[in-house]
Amino acid sequence: MVLQAIKYQRGALEILDQLKLPHTETYDTISTVQYGWDAIKEMRTRGAPAIAIVAALSLAIDLTNQGESQESAKAAQEYISSQLAYLVTSRPTAVNLADAARKLNKMVDAAAKNEDATWKSVINAYVEAAEQMLIDDVADNEAIGKHGADWIRKNTEQGKTGPVSMLTHCNTGSLATAGYGTALGVIRSLHAAGSLKHAFCTETRPYNQGSRLTAFELVHDNIPATLITDSMASALLRLKGPSERIAGIVVGADRVAANGDTANKIGTYALAITAKYHGVKFLVAAPRTTIDLETKSGKDIVIEERPGKEVTMVKGPCISDGTLNLQKVETVNIAANGIGVWNPAFDVTPAELIDGIITEVGVVEKDGNGNFDLKSIFDQDVEG
Ligand code: MRU
Repeated sequence: MVLQAIKYQRGALEILDQLKLPHTETYDTISTVQYGWDAIKEMRTRGAPAIAIVAALSLAIDLTNQGESQESAKAAQEYISSQLAYLVTSRPTAVNLADAARKLNKMVDAAAKNEDATWKSVINAYVEAAEQMLIDDVADNEAIGKHGADWIRKNTEQGKTGPVSMLTHCNTGSLATAGYGTALGVIRSLHAAGSLKHAFCTETRPYNQGSRLTAFELVHDNIPATLITDSMASALLRLKGPSERIAGIVVGADRVAANGDTANKIGTYALAITAKYHGVKFLVAAPRTTIDLETKSGKDIVIEERPGKEVTMVKGPCISDGTLNLQKVETVNIAANGIGVWNPAFDVTPAELIDGIITEVGVVEKDGNGNFDLKSIFDQDVEG
């Protein structure tokens, strides 16, 4: 069975409700832009690429369901632009959604300017472009996986001589993308090639994307893996045993600034610092849609702050009379009532702590002056 966060065919969109994982696998129907916006805001669907695709497809569904219209091509273009502007407000840090909206708007503007453009022709152009994003994302992730695995085999001490152990953070797999994943895609690719000794994943507090989602994907794919809490990472990097010795840490990204500073799930920065201290490679895996050349450095990235209850409460299946009921999830308070809470969803890792940025066109390393040249990769084509 293939893990699928997004199920789509023209006129029908469903998302796997990730708040209920790993306990139950239920799909929610997304039939309007508002449903799409809500699913992203509430994190029923999450991960930078998945957010962009679900948003774009929720508008495709809305437009497909509207059927025929006597309105003009210009009216179609204005409607699409206003709905995309609304969808972009759902979550601010991941740039993939804003990038998708910009590209879709540009394409729709051009379609509406055609001499014989109609409402229908503009809508069709939008729907086809949104559907293409779903297809492209899987191919891009497979290419990221391959480039990342090659780099790790060539550039890590462990990789040069045999299979490697890797640590990852948050969830960057099939659940965070259209399929395969970015950082988790690199681990999948290493595993498929027989180059993975062991995968470690962090719990990823406060929302537990690691223990709930990445662990779920690793178990699903039969990848040898161990879960640690976030606070165990430095202790793990100290271990020198044959399977615990970590060759590299690979994480995803929500926005990579022009200088390589990277916003990703809270806790990523701490992992990069501990990687540097222990001489372990630190890699960011992301499609080019996550690279934002308009944002000069990490200082310019807006970090989403989420409700304090995500820190003070945990969710889990209900236990009654000593029996675990997986169908019934309950929320439990684990903090002292009245305590203040700070809950930034992401942090920024400075480029100086990053050894390589793995994209679908290859791995970008720093030049002799210690700078990433991210501009140049936008002129390259994906191989194969
Ligand atoms: O808050 P989330 O779960 O959407 O955060 C997800 C991450 O930080 C991922 O690492 C990132 O979006 C890349 S997913 C391929």
